Amino acid sequence: MKVLILDDEKIFTSELCEFLTKSGLQAFEANTVALGRALLESEKPDLLILDVRLPGADGLDLLKDFKAAYPDLEVIVVSGHGDMETVIRAMRLGAVDYLKKPFRHMDIKLALERTAKFISLQQRVRDVEETNSLISKSLGEKIERSLIGVSTGIMKVMELAMTAAEYNDTNVLITGESGTGKENIARIIHYASKRSEHLFCAVNSSAVTESLLESEFFGHKKGSFTGAISDKKGFFEIADKGTLFLDEIADMPLTLQAKVLRAIEERKITRVGETVPRSTDFRVIAATNADLDILISEKKMRLDLYHRLKTLHIHIPPLRERADDIEPLLDYFISKLSKQFNRIVPEVSDEVIAVLKQYAFPGNVRELRNLTERALILSKSKVLKISDFPLSATQPVISSDIPPTMDLIGNESELLRKALAECGFSQVKAAEMLGISRDALIRRMKKYNIVVKKSG
Ligand SMILES: Nc1ncnc2c1ncn2[C@@H]1O[C@H](COP(=O)(O)OP(=O)(O)OP(=O)(O)O)[C@@H](O)[C@H]1O
Ligand SMILES: [Mg+2]
Repeated sequence: MKVLILDDEKIFTSELCEFLTKSGLQAFEANTVALGRALLESEKPDLLILDVRLPGADGLDLLKDFKAAYPDLEVIVVSGHGDMETVIRAMRLGAVDYLKKPFRHMDIKLALERTAKFISLQQRVRDVEETNSLISKSLGEKIERSLIGVSTGIMKVMELAMTAAEYNDTNVLITGESGTGKENIARIIHYASKRSEHLFCAVNSSAVTESLLESEFFGHKKGSFTGAISDKKGFFEIADKGTLFLDEIADMPLTLQAKVLRAIEERKITRVGETVPRSTDFRVIAATNADLDILISEKKMRLDLYHRLKTLHIHIPPLRERADDIEPLLDYFISKLSKQFNRIVPEVSDEVIAVLKQYAFPGNVRELRNLTERALILSKSKVLKISDFPLSATQPVISSDIPPTMDLIGNESELLRKALAECGFSQVKAAEMLGISRDALIRRMKKYNIVVKKSG
């Protein structure tokens, strides 16, 4: 620790300086304000021991100036007899401690120890703040927040998401098949809303042990059950001022759904083992990949909760119903993953796009991402070909209400898939149906990389 002593009494400063140096500190002395200022600037001390009764200067004004110019500087003020008023004002201006003249070495030692502790605590707080902001920054970078797509379907989703971001207390229900990007949209809503500075707390209730569900959601009081070793906040309180993302809402037991509904309506929760409710300001975004009508007819979702949540309902159509998004998504994943893998961005043959546009994508965007990742890892060439994308023929083919196109390659691969599926994947029968030889069928299957998975 570097210390500067600013006092007009030469005897005082040199004695104190000697004492501090002996105690292992780096000490400087100044008997005039001008020298004091110069040393503050050149030495940047951590601590200033300041006499508030310097001739020709107001010590309190100096203190204010110094604290403004050097916000990290700590100041101990030195005062004479009967000067309590000044001391109090100095403390209000940010001095950490004070010493009354004359003082014993013991007093200065204690004051220094207190100040050193204070300085190191402050440093720790700064370190923690810095690491926290670094962590949240790197987390923020990892989280997918871009929504790629040009289809009218995805545009509508984006528009609704922006409305949801604007009305940041409205509950939202997101539906869509697995891999369509429900969590992605939920995060986009959170980060575009006024709640973005607070937590996005994602919870999948089927991943929480049933017996702990209530305490995980509502928190508990220490000792309220075996294992409750300390007071604990639940998800509703953790998400205070932020967003609570309830993934797979239909997997939540009905009894808990009822309690969640109450929490949403009252914006108050009671921890397990407590009686007084606590207020918490969260917004719920719930998601499910199940069909809502079925959920409700099979009583997997409470109707009252459903009505509460669907104030804003966002349905993400499956990827096969928005084929226009395939190309931009493919481009996006290729460039993003190539960067990640540190390789040159490959080109994509037209055939790839044509075939993918006919593919049913049961795993939706997630499947497209995984296929792209695989193709990038396995292909060594500068152009990605359809053979780099192993599509399964056993997957359902696109429904025929999609208008036929004149796209030969795409239609050919689709026809092959359809024929194979209809013949129970018998190559002989499929070839017959298509009016080609079996060899010709096998050649074409290779060309489009159609793999027939044996079931069972
Ligand atoms: N429009 C999109 N633009 C960019 N990436 C997307 C888009 N849609 C989905 N993704 C990506 O696809 C993957 C799957 O998305 P996400 O996890 O949000 O799906 P989900 O609907 O929650 O799936 P599940 O029902 O299986 O939980 C993620 O990597 C996500 O970033
Ligand atoms: Mg999900």
